[in-house]
Amino acid sequence: MSMAFSPMNFSLEPTRMEDAEFDRWVRLLESRTGVTVPLERKPFLLSGLRRRMREAGHTVFASYYEELLDGVRGRVEWAALVDHLTVHETHFFRHQPSFQLIRDEWLPEWIDGTDEDQSLHALSVGCSTGEEAFSIAMLLDSVLTTQNPPRRFGITATDVSQPALGVAKNAHYPVARMHEVPVEYWESCLRRSENDTFTIQDRLRKRVGFARVNLLHATRAPFRQLDLIFCQNVLIYFARERRGELLDGLARLLRPSGLLVLGAGEITGWSHPQLTRTGGRQTLAFRRNP
Ligand SMILES: C[S@@+](CC[C@H](N)C(=O)[O-])C[C@H]1O[C@@H](n2cnc3c(N)ncnc32)[C@H](O)[C@@H]1O
Repeated sequence: MSMAFSPMNFSLEPTRMEDAEFDRWVRLLESRTGVTVPLERKPFLLSGLRRRMREAGHTVFASYYEELLDGVRGRVEWAALVDHLTVHETHFFRHQPSFQLIRDEWLPEWIDGTDEDQSLHALSVGCSTGEEAFSIAMLLDSVLTTQNPPRRFGITATDVSQPALGVAKNAHYPVARMHEVPVEYWESCLRRSENDTFTIQDRLRKRVGFARVNLLHATRAPFRQLDLIFCQNVLIYFARERRGELLDGLARLLRPSGLLVLGAGEITGWSHPQLTRTGGRQTLAFRRNP
């Protein structure tokens, strides 16, 4: 029986990826972003790669790989691909116990221990589409601006994905997600806008600056000394051996008494001579010794 040709079973998409081909894609991603893709996540890598290749009109993994190594053109294409190969899931006030630790324990001590004219500088690492940075801004705003005299703060939020940062800078989110923000912040920090979206009030948006920084090179970025570093749900994508090195780098950016907040369970067995574990068992946070 002969089978009639149908456009339905003709596809220009690359289908199979041999193990050797997979290995070199994994190595490229790891060397450039630090993100590691174990074999069980091969379907994730394939689906992101195929999506971007379709957009860019490529059908062969090998020739697409060559294009990525090709000078300026390759760098531009790499920036687009990275967005498809990284996970951007995030929420406002994602990990409640971490925010409680900051509000109830660390921040009151920071206020007491610093001069009135000293402002607080925070960093959100791997900020994705901005929800984490704006959550920190809402919390700091509610506590610091009600001090007498009010205290100032600024937040730098970084990610490797340019499209994610684009969403963050735009700061419009679906109204259906407003419930992630505690009601106490709605009136003072949020504003309803068009098309079933809400946005963050300008007063807070001005306090947050977004920048494309690869965590692998974060210690080379011109950050000032920081009081608070939030690094949640990012380290898990890095090879185990590399996580400690990255944290050592972040620890160097902290001021005395500064706080490093990680995602609970994201790393075990890491310690630093100048940092002391703080907070309860629901959090994973370290404080730089005074
Ligand atoms: C799962 S999201 C976490 C977002 C937020 N921190 C949270 O906990 O909700 C991980 C983010 O890390 C970013 N990322 C991955 N590798 C990175 C790297 N090498 N440098 C900076 N950001 C990176 C991704 O682009 C993504 O937006």
